[in-house]
Formats: sequence, structure tokens, C-alpha cells
Amino acid sequence: MLKDQDRIFTNIYGLHDWGLKGAMRRGLWDGTKGILENGRDWIIEQMKASGLRGRGGAGFPTGLKWSFMPKEIGERPHYLVVNADESEPGTCKDREILRHDPHHLVEGCLIAGFAVGAHTAFIYVRGEYIRERERLQAAIDQAYEAKLIGKNNKNSWDFDIVVHHGAGAYICGEETALLESLEGKKGQPRLKPPFPANVGLYGCPSTVNNVESIAVAPTILRRGGAWFSGLGKPNNTGTKLFGLSGHVERSCVVEEELGVPFRELVEKHAGGVRGGWDNLLAIIPGGASVPLLPASECEDLEMAFDSLKAKQSGLGTAAVLVMDKSTDVVKAIARISYFFKHESCGQCTPCREGTGWVWRVMERMARGEAQKSEIDTLFNVTKQVEGHTICALGDAAAWPIQGLIRHFRPEIERRIDEFTRNADPAEAPLVAVE
Ligand SMILES: Cc1cc2nc3c(=O)[nH]c(=O)nc-3n(C[C@H](O)[C@H](O)[C@H](O)COP(=O)(O)O)c2cc1C
Ligand code: SF4
Repeated sequence: MLKDQDRIFTNIYGLHDWGLKGAMRRGLWDGTKGILENGRDWIIEQMKASGLRGRGGAGFPTGLKWSFMPKEIGERPHYLVVNADESEPGTCKDREILRHDPHHLVEGCLIAGFAVGAHTAFIYVRGEYIRERERLQAAIDQAYEAKLIGKNNKNSWDFDIVVHHGAGAYICGEETALLESLEGKKGQPRLKPPFPANVGLYGCPSTVNNVESIAVAPTILRRGGAWFSGLGKPNNTGTKLFGLSGHVERSCVVEEELGVPFRELVEKHAGGVRGGWDNLLAIIPGGASVPLLPASECEDLEMAFDSLKAKQSGLGTAAVLVMDKSTDVVKAIARISYFFKHESCGQCTPCREGTGWVWRVMERMARGEAQKSEIDTLFNVTKQVEGHTICALGDAAAWPIQGLIRHFRPEIERRIDEFTRNADPAEAPLVAVE
């Protein structure tokens, strides 16, 4: 288990004072000015040395992302944009930072802002996170009052933080849709390139990072990149907030080292699988977007980016959805398909049409009202969506179905057999000809 002295979020359960005094007692805002005095290059090199990979889902190296910003600040201002949209089903880790340990994020904004040459940060908060937004704003106000941020502050880098709240659309978590939404437009992803580091918010160089990625930066810089990279596994370094929900004894968010075995994670922190380990059917390891893994793959499963990719799944947001044997797994994936259909912004044809099509077929599969040949058709259609769209929502809609077919094909076929046995011979079953 992660040692207490290596824990970054020491108030994640809200047991102590979330405010500035409490945060300072826990070591935050300590030597911030000295960190900035080391210069932009030093900060970026330390972040690269830490091996931190973005905590928003894609796992892109944070230090490298910061290095993409123009070295000199030209006529266009630079912006830091923090993604607190947190809408991936099952994911509620950023929420705990916002409401219980917000000064990690506020200090992180100042340091990351300095590193990318930004005097302003925008934090885009999920619309439903009302109390979290109030708490975050209160922490920002405290930092202004203590002259830690703002004009002529004690840290000698003028810095403003603007909190913006979303209106409840999942797609606004995609970084370029988020920028559109911040600009007051409909939240629809932009074609890339250009990337935000060149043309981002209001056409200016911008860095977009997840809440957790920014919130861990102050501790990394205080303790050194080498400390962080010494935790976890090679290329999968550091600590990570994991969420455990579904059929566990106690749902929780917990900080652990990347690479922690799934079984240890669930048994030590969530009280185990409901009904015991042998009652496990499958897990979705990283929010609804990644392919599920059956229990047979979970025994020695390491919870890290590369190990999960090797199993044809992904770490995503590290929100683990646990399903025990009482789960109707086909119906569960059909419900996830409905979510992606509902959240598609409709810009690209494969996603707009494909998400609706696969959802309708999945609904029939869940009832068994299908033909076995349609399973391959369904799989092939998801392959036509995957990688053929402007943003990764298309992939996110395709992967859960691919995972289901990969691991639970016999269950889909069993339902089709059962439905066919019970069907009225006068009524021909529906076939996917659309
Ligand atoms: C449909 C969709 C929804 C997303 N939602 C979120 C989100 O709620 N929060 C988040 O941090 N990243 C989300 N992302 C990922 C962001 O586009 C982006 O990769 C991330 O904010 C970058 O931060 P990081 O480098 O610190 O991980 C989403 C991506 C897609 C395609
Ligand atoms: S993939 Fe879907 S959500 Fe993303 S831009 Fe295209 S239509 Fe919109």
C-alpha cells in the first residue's frame, strides 16, 4: 500500500480544514515563490522527470504538453485551462479535490500558469458540481486575500483564476469542445491541428489539463520529479486517485501507486467484491469509455496505463466499475451505448449515425432479439466508427461493445438461442439491415 508520507492528497476525505490555514499546515503554499524562481525550464524539466501522465484519461505526458507552449509571450496572451468537467460515468475523483483539498489546485494553477507563460487560468467546472464550485471559489478568494495570487502578489507572478461552470454536457469535457464552450459557443470539438498550444482559447496559445494533473504539480515540484517517478511502475509513475464503485462493499476514492494490483485495490480499500472475489463477473477499469475485462483477466491485473492497454482495455480516468455475477452484462453495455448516443454532439456522421445504430442493435441483443450473424456486423460497425471521427467520443462509444463481444460472445449467443426458442414462429426476427 502507498505509504502515508507519499500521499499527495492528505485531506481527500474532508476530515480536516479544507481552507488556506489547514492547507498551509499540510505543507501547501510552502516555498511557492522559490519554485517559480527556479524558472520555467526547470519546472518543465522536473515535470518531465516525474513522468506524470495526464490524469484526464488519455495519459499524455504533462511536462511535454507544457513544453509545447511558445517560449516567448508574443502579442497573444497565454492561457491555462483546467478541465473540471468530470462527466465520465463512474468518475468522481476531481470532485474530491475540488471540495476537500482545493488549494492543491489553486497553487497548481499558479505554478502551471507560470510554467506555460499564462497570467490567467480558467477552470471549467461540471455544471452539476454546484457545491464544489462554491468551495473552489472560496479557496481562490482566500488565495487572493492572502496575496498568493492576483496582481502584485507575494509570488511575483501576476495571476488571475476565473471559475466557469458548464451546463451539463459530457462532450464539453473534450478539451476543444470545452474551449468552444468557454468562448460562449455550442460545445463542439474542433478539428486538430491546430492544437491548443498554438491556437487555443480565443485563438491564443493554451494548455488544457485535468484537475488532478494540475493539483499534483506543487507536491511534485517541492519533493522533486525523481521522488514521483520512484513511485508506481516505469512509464506509469506516481500516485493516482482511483475510484471504485458498483458491486463493491464500500465505494470509495483512494490514492494509490499506479500499477497497484486490482485485487489489492478492491479488497484493501473497497471491502472487496460484493459476495466475495469468486462472485466477480467483470470490471470496466477506467470509466465507461474503456473495454470491460472479465474476472479471468482480473486476478493479477495491474492498474496502470500500459498494463491495461496490453489487455486491450485502458486506465482512462481510473474509475473502476465493478460488476458481480448478478449483472446483466449485455444490458449494462446497451445502457452505456445509450449514454454515448445521447452525448454525441452530432458533428461527424460515423458518430452521429453510428452511436444510434449500435445502441438500437445493442437493445435487441440484450433481449436476444437478433441473429448471430449480426454480432459480427455490430463489431464491424464499431470499427467503422473508431478512429473515423473528430474527437474520441466515437472511440469511447465503440470500445465497450468491442470488449463485450470479445469476452461475452457466448452470453450474447445464448440469449439469441433462448429468444429464438421462445419466439412465435409466425414473427420473423428483426435483422440489422439499416
Ligand atoms: C468525450 C470526451 C470527454 C472528456 N471529458 C473529460 C473530462 O471530463 N475531464 C478531463 O479532464 N478530460 C476529459 N477528456 C479528455 C480531454 O479531452 C483532455 O485530454 C484532458 O483534459 C487533458 O488533460 P490531461 O493531459 O491533464 O489528462 C474528455 C475527452 C473526450 C473525448
Ligand atoms: S466524434 Fe461524436 S462527439 Fe466527437 S465531434 Fe464527432 S460527432 Fe461530435
